[in-house]
Amino acid sequence: MVRVCFVCLGNICRSPTGEGIMLSLVRAAGLESAIRIDSAGTSAFHVGEPADRRSRAAAEVHGVDLPSRARQFVAADFERFDYIIAMDTSNKRNILALSQKSTDHQKVSLLCDFDPQSKKGASVPDPYYGGESGFEHVFQLCKRGCEGLLAHIREQHGLMD
Ligand code: 4NP
Repeated sequence: MVRVCFVCLGNICRSPTGEGIMLSLVRAAGLESAIRIDSAGTSAFHVGEPADRRSRAAAEVHGVDLPSRARQFVAADFERFDYIIAMDTSNKRNILALSQKSTDHQKVSLLCDFDPQSKKGASVPDPYYGGESGFEHVFQLCKRGCEGLLAHIREQHGLMD
């Protein structure tokens, strides 16, 4: 089983979007029994909340459901996941601050690093205080990143057609 956790600040906008898109891609590929997906936030601001209604609306337009309930990322998550996917550089720093081993560091990447159209080190911008268009932009960035991430995982773990 390959285990993937998407991480942002609040776990109500970006990481639930990544989680929902990855779930739909994994289901479409028939890989539910090989790849498990979760999400978390570096903060505890919204623990227990469903995804933001604006994120759910943007995803629904594309037929994607966002089933997450917010939880905080904890150090023990390094043992529970193979791929820890940060949405922005601040999330990545905060995740790495919780790591205890050098092997933990190797598990942490930025989602945009899997998107060939994004520059190396690019972030999925925080849409929380912006307008509706920011949520569609987040969806598109997450979609491209998740497609690249799934291709990478399939190649790395021999999950090809
Ligand atoms: P997310 O967005 O990190 O993509 O879930 C945010 C949600 C809430 C807040 C910030 C960002 N907040 O400050 O409450």
